[in-house]
Amino acid sequence: YFYSNETTPSWKKVNYNSVYKDIAGLLEDEDYDDGSYGPVFVRLAWHASGTYDKKTRTGGSDGGTIRHTAEAGHGANNGLEHARDRLEPLKKQYPNISYADLYTLAGVVAVQELGGPTVRWRPGREDKTEADCTPDGRLPDAAQGADHVRDIFYRMGFNDQEIAALVGAHALGRCHTSRSGFDGPWNASPTSFTNFFYTELLNSTWVPKKWNGPFQYVDKESGQFMMLPADMAFKKDSEFRKYVEKYAADQDAFFEDFAKAFSKLLELGVKFPEDAPVYEFKTLE
Ligand code: HEM
Repeated sequence: YFYSNETTPSWKKVNYNSVYKDIAGLLEDEDYDDGSYGPVFVRLAWHASGTYDKKTRTGGSDGGTIRHTAEAGHGANNGLEHARDRLEPLKKQYPNISYADLYTLAGVVAVQELGGPTVRWRPGREDKTEADCTPDGRLPDAAQGADHVRDIFYRMGFNDQEIAALVGAHALGRCHTSRSGFDGPWNASPTSFTNFFYTELLNSTWVPKKWNGPFQYVDKESGQFMMLPADMAFKKDSEFRKYVEKYAADQDAFFEDFAKAFSKLLELGVKFPEDAPVYEFKTLE
């Protein structure tokens, strides 16, 4: 038999530069949070990917399973429907893009358009069914410390330097009592990608927040900014702290290391087609 190979795979039928621009167009909304969907897009891309287990080679962004009720309903994923709903019209506009590619690309667009580094990204993830959802409990618990953070990220295949670089994304966005139970932004410019997670962590005095909610920290001076118990582990643990000091002092080093680690995160467990090109998208403005 002769097998014709002329069917173009769907991932090849998408103009990703055009999707990039359209995602960028969805970022701003003065009625949402601090005026941008960027932070919640970054969190969606990370939670879609951070389920990876290198031993069993399960989880990760491939499959786009975070859209299914089973996985969307994991406590750690509360609130991510805001990001998925915002992106849904683009899935209609570009029916050939997989949810897995759309959600990870949204994280890349958000990092870049909010002032962060260029993040290398490849297309070709394929969507899977609800049966491929990972069990609950693979994402980190913000109430815990360094040992737990290491357990979770070593399982994915990251080292201490990469973990310390990734958590710098907590310069963006805020905690919502209705989602995680925690409250407040990490700094005064939650819609700009900066090294402020590290500078704030080192330069402010963090005290327990006095409230009925879960244990967390607020800055002593204004009480407006926050740190999670898991964030504080990066100050207390001497190995993590080395990198916190480095990234606080050197924003370029942070940007370079974040870009590498974030790109790796979005690719964990993905079997890309051999001819999938690597994109380095140009930031719009
Ligand atoms: C928000 C925990 C690592 C990106 C949050 C929230 C929690 C949390 C509890 C608040 C969610 C809400 O109430 O809306 C953690 C823990 C981590 C971790 C325990 C591991 C130590 C990361 C990583 C990234 C990331 C690796 C990305 C590379 C974000 C962003 C937000 C966020 C951008 C803000 C979302 C928004 O404004 O809606 N994280 N996170 N986090 N996280 Fe993490």
